[in-house]
Amino acid sequence: MTDTQYIRDRLNRPMKDLRISVIDQCNFRCTYCMPAEIFGEDYKFLPFKELLSFDEIVRLVEIFAKFGTEKIRITGGEPLLRKNLDQLIKRLYAIDGIKDIAITTNGVFLTKQAKKLKEAGLDRVNLSLDAIEDDVFKEINGRGVKTKPVLKGIEAAQEAGLQVKINMVVKKGLNDSQILPMARYFKGTDVILRFIEFMDVGNHNGWNMNTVVSKQEIIDRINIEMPLEPAEQNYYGEVATRYRYIDGSGEIGVISSVTDSFCGSCTRIRLSADGKLYTCLFATTGYDIKTPLREHASDHQLILELIKLWSGRTDRYSDERAEGKPLKREKIEMSYIGG
Ligand code: GTP
Ligand code: 5AD
Ligand code: SF4
Ligand code: SF4
Repeated sequence: MTDTQYIRDRLNRPMKDLRISVIDQCNFRCTYCMPAEIFGEDYKFLPFKELLSFDEIVRLVEIFAKFGTEKIRITGGEPLLRKNLDQLIKRLYAIDGIKDIAITTNGVFLTKQAKKLKEAGLDRVNLSLDAIEDDVFKEINGRGVKTKPVLKGIEAAQEAGLQVKINMVVKKGLNDSQILPMARYFKGTDVILRFIEFMDVGNHNGWNMNTVVSKQEIIDRINIEMPLEPAEQNYYGEVATRYRYIDGSGEIGVISSVTDSFCGSCTRIRLSADGKLYTCLFATTGYDIKTPLREHASDHQLILELIKLWSGRTDRYSDERAEGKPLKREKIEMSYIGG
């Protein structure tokens, strides 16, 4: 590509990664994300006509790619619930400038879909698994699902040739008992386990500082039994801090948005399933790009909107939280924006 233009925000951050939520529904009801009491039978998910179509998503990504966006992450809710997702991936893969396509999923539907997704051009999968013991996992996912279907999903992804990472959100009292069992289970495998500090995303997950197990504590607990050393970043702006086992049996990561925030290198923009752009995971409002898309705006008009949005960006929510700034505000839900 010869004509890439880079837009920088007010803190000089380029727009490198686009996270696309393709659906707000999920087959799980994780207590920290979509608690069943709130996301019940009568919860109003987005109707299909409100979701961006594949044509609309592809058109936007073509524009983003012109501005230096290289990485695409497909999220949900549970993205594998969106029908024919492989067809979207095939079209995104064909876009000039897109170098990496990944998906974040709970993994249950991977046994059926992994091969098709890989063939379509998917590079990587991040799979959520918050416990290795069935009793703990069943309680967390809110649907009584055992770990087996997820472990099968991991296997299917690996067999298909996809790179796999595991995301484990750690919430004190809920699953911190699983830190060591999870580390032991995945040590020495090709799968990279990442521990995630529980974050105050959304408005319903009961977050407070006492529910967070810090990066330092997670590392200390593992290090006693399985010694670790810091490893270098894979790429600029990587959200996980990497550590490798001293005995050479692989690595883990910790995502520490609470105790060691990383807004300074945040190059991520998010597109919701109903076509709103968010410049921060903790944003209150999004910029509606669907209306101009559906009202036949030209590429030039869409480009101007995008430049205006990104060049005015000042978001640094997690840094502000760490600085003790008062941050009480209505936020978007995790299941709506996909992390
Ligand atoms: P890789 O490309 O594999 O490094 O993926 P990723 O870690 O960026 O994406 P993933 O969807 O696996 O997210 C892992 C965790 O990081 C989730 O809890 C996300 O909510 C969190 N996360 C990702 N990006 C951001 C961000 O910009 N800010 C904050 N605060 N958390 C983020
Ligand atoms: N804090 C941290 N991570 C979360 N996730 C969902 N809710 C939270 C939260 N409150 C994780 C999911 C998934 C990724 C997109 O974000 O487990 O792995
Ligand atoms: Fe679904 Fe992921 Fe939220 Fe769990 S964390 S309810 S799997 S979107
Ligand atoms: Fe980026 Fe907002 Fe996360 Fe900071 S809190 S890293 S600005 S998404």
